[in-house]
Amino acid sequence: MNDSGTIIKVSGPLVVADNLSGARMYDVVRVGDKRLVGEIIELDGDTASIQVYEDTAGIGPGESIYRTDRPLSVELGPGLIGSIFDGIQRALSAIRELGGDYITRGLDVPSLDRDKRWTFMPTAARGSVVVPGDILGNVRETEIIEHRIMVPHGVSGTLEEVREGEFTVTDTVAIIRSGTERHEVSMMQVWPVRVPRPYRRKIQPTEILTTGQRVIDTFFPVAKGGTACIPGPFGSGKTVVQHQLAKWSAADIVLYVGCGERGNEMTDVLMEFPRLIDPRSGHPLMKRTVLIANTSNMPVAAREASVYTGITIAEYFRDMGYSVALMADSTSRWAEAMREISGRLEEMPGEEGYPAYLASKVAEFYERAGRVICTGSDGREGTLTVVGAVSPAGGDLSDPVVQATLRVVKVFWSLEDKLAFQRHFPAISWLRSYSLYDEMIREYVADTVDPLFPGLKGEAMEILEKEDGLEEIVRLVGVDSLADVDRLVMRTARTIRQDFLHQNAFNDEDTYTSLGKQYLILDLLLHLHRLLEKSIEGGTPLSIFEKMKIYDEISNLKYLPETSIEADRIKEMMADQISEAIAEYAGRKEI
Ligand SMILES: Nc1ncnc2c1ncn2[C@@H]1O[C@H](COP(=O)(O)OP(=O)(O)OP(=O)(O)O)[C@@H](O)[C@H]1O
Ligand SMILES: [Mg+2]
Repeated sequence: MNDSGTIIKVSGPLVVADNLSGARMYDVVRVGDKRLVGEIIELDGDTASIQVYEDTAGIGPGESIYRTDRPLSVELGPGLIGSIFDGIQRALSAIRELGGDYITRGLDVPSLDRDKRWTFMPTAARGSVVVPGDILGNVRETEIIEHRIMVPHGVSGTLEEVREGEFTVTDTVAIIRSGTERHEVSMMQVWPVRVPRPYRRKIQPTEILTTGQRVIDTFFPVAKGGTACIPGPFGSGKTVVQHQLAKWSAADIVLYVGCGERGNEMTDVLMEFPRLIDPRSGHPLMKRTVLIANTSNMPVAAREASVYTGITIAEYFRDMGYSVALMADSTSRWAEAMREISGRLEEMPGEEGYPAYLASKVAEFYERAGRVICTGSDGREGTLTVVGAVSPAGGDLSDPVVQATLRVVKVFWSLEDKLAFQRHFPAISWLRSYSLYDEMIREYVADTVDPLFPGLKGEAMEILEKEDGLEEIVRLVGVDSLADVDRLVMRTARTIRQDFLHQNAFNDEDTYTSLGKQYLILDLLLHLHRLLEKSIEGGTPLSIFEKMKIYDEISNLKYLPETSIEADRIKEMMADQISEAIAEYAGRKEI
């Protein structure tokens, strides 16, 4: 490490230093006697502005800057899964061992454990010609995740040797020769976080990423490889939705980036995930999860880095051919970190003080999502889905971060104050939200669930939209003015809202609903709607059906396991109860 620069000014997380000729943009440096981790974000001659990822208190002019001549990078290899890292990928467990409960500044801790030995099973044949991205072999990292060791970028040639056995992440497991060059390949790669990892090409997503959240999967689905955002006012349920997605999404790997949010929310995740069982694999959720914890009490600049650290790790697993989902809560805190640094750099401010490049940074981030053909010669496919929470002040959607995000993401889950206040959770507005993946995943949903599913969802949405119009009429002239067909619309809409859209994240059964079960519930409640519609069209008043027990039956469906929902029996009950109500009504009329 060269000691070359000298600090001339310290301004919060920003340090200005000179004598740095030869340093490059985005190089990591160690700052001051405490050797804090920083990154060069502006260079003017031999003077550099450095954003420091640790608290700069006590650092002053005259102290040295130590160059590493390497960009801010992450370590990629076995040991990532189940880890909890800070914004610059320092393993929190290693930090605790070295420095106690508080993060000591300037600590040098490796991201991946250097001592742990992993069993490497080669799959590539000695003598074969390999290119970047080709899989050399596997490590069983957890019960459910096989870590595929890939030929690193920039390396290709003949596989001269590939070793089977127990290795640490830095041991050589393969030797690749090209001409006179001989590359020793270990299980660990290092990748600069600000550079997207390459892939062969992007392809259009076609599969839904099921989340077990009914309002999302049925009405506003996100595709595997898609992008979504969830803006909402304070306390409207952004974090709960993000946690739900991290828990229940049908992705192979989940990256959860807690960016600038409250520490206790991260603690919730840490306490809960090891206990929760993934419904698909039957194993604890941590066996497929990587957490990046950069809470509000941690330095502001590290927030800026944390989303890049997270997405680079996510891309790495995508490259193995996995479906990966990344949740970032909250991207507003990331943008605020950018604003703070930009202000200190005295850059020309854009809207609300955010830097003019805010929109392009946001776009670049979401562009790292996608369904891709991975590098490597086997043509495997990987997906990376990105979901960002946005927390605009006062829930104002004209906020620059919200606007920049909405321009690039294809799903918008709009959280509403009013719904949260009524304790309708998730408070996702069914009238304002949208998903642009509907058409792309339609065929997949029809094939894997039921060909009628897409149609049912249209029918339900139409009822909800009609309800909105009718509510206006009721407000103006009262409910008595409505014809029975319209009252039925309002009754069914209420059922859809209460028994389908409303979903309690804290109820063991309700917290997750398979797509199959979503279909069953929707089918049943719309079946009832159609039966009643027919009856009232035949002249029977709607009011005689109000007390039918079947409504309770429907309300209870979400609390039942999918296998115990007997749709045919329930449909029979509907028909019977309707006939009974009609018979009773006819009897009453005769008397
Ligand atoms: N799906 C849900 N089921 C039950 N309760 C919920 C649900 N979503 C949100 N809540 C309730 O709303 C509260 C606030 O939610 P949450 O912390 O997710 O809001 P937030 O939008 O992240 O807030 P902040 O702006 O403070 O970050 C939760 O503590 C919980 O009580
Ligand atoms: Mg929150």
